[in-house]
Amino acid sequence: MTNKRIRKAVFPVAGLGTRFLPATKTVPKEMLPIIDRPLIQYAVDEAIEAGCDTLVFVTNRYKHAVADYFDKAYELEQKLERAGKTEQLELVRHVLPEGVRAVFVTQAEALGLGHAVLCAKEIVGDEPFAVLLPDDLIWNRGPGALKQMADAAQASGASEIAVQDVPPESTGSYGIVATEAFKGREGRIHGIVEKPAPAEAPSNLAVVGRYVLSPRIFQQLEATTPGAGGEIQLTDAIAALLKEEAVNAYRFQGTRFDCGTHIGLIEATIRYALDHEKLSDPAREMMQRALGELGVRDLE
Ligand code: G1P
Repeated sequence: MTNKRIRKAVFPVAGLGTRFLPATKTVPKEMLPIIDRPLIQYAVDEAIEAGCDTLVFVTNRYKHAVADYFDKAYELEQKLERAGKTEQLELVRHVLPEGVRAVFVTQAEALGLGHAVLCAKEIVGDEPFAVLLPDDLIWNRGPGALKQMADAAQASGASEIAVQDVPPESTGSYGIVATEAFKGREGRIHGIVEKPAPAEAPSNLAVVGRYVLSPRIFQQLEATTPGAGGEIQLTDAIAALLKEEAVNAYRFQGTRFDCGTHIGLIEATIRYALDHEKLSDPAREMMQRALGELGVRDLE
């Protein structure tokens, strides 16, 4: 790769979100909120913090909500302005800061994550770029996970893939990497497999949805045939890439919530509430009360 700083971020948002049906009949899973912001906004803010100014959303033709969300809402803005609701007006206006552009690409068929990333090829061009999976919400008091990785990629000139340890029995839900010994937060990857059974997994170091990738990945994706689940897997293209270029696993600082599952979304909501300026105290009291009441009931 090169040491060029990433400027473009790809958000694959074409999935059906079947785990959250019936809500996802009409609301894309990326639009499910944690407190008052949809999941996609957290991922977008992380990309912008990392230095990205071009956001590429790979969506499907039925999903308009994400595009509508980032579009200007003239009528709403006018109403808020007339009503003197300046605070709310600012919130609505600043889903994207000035100088950041959103580009929408349609993934015509649901052929997998790798295929979704390939759909962004023409817009990304020949430069390193980020991929963020908005289901994976990463909370950190310091710099966001992608900023940490973009800095690391700029220094190393290598692709960087976010990883974290998972329980050995969970390897079947993730891309799993085999690495050289870690130096600080980075360890060079020499093998990667998509969703191996625990007995076949090379480690319990799992890929989390943040990637800084060399543009060379597009050639690898074009040559990738459907893998696990009949889909074109990003993991398989990374496996081919690492035979040609350095690809590092990056142990980010922060807590990751798997908002693609019910319990992960609940956990994230609880954590953000407990860390929230105004909601922290009432949330704490409410949780204690709920636990107390349920505890009493359990004894009855
Ligand atoms: C995708 C990737 C997988 C990665 C995971 C992280 O899987 O294919 O390698 O570990 O995201 O969330 P998905 O969760 O979309 O099935």
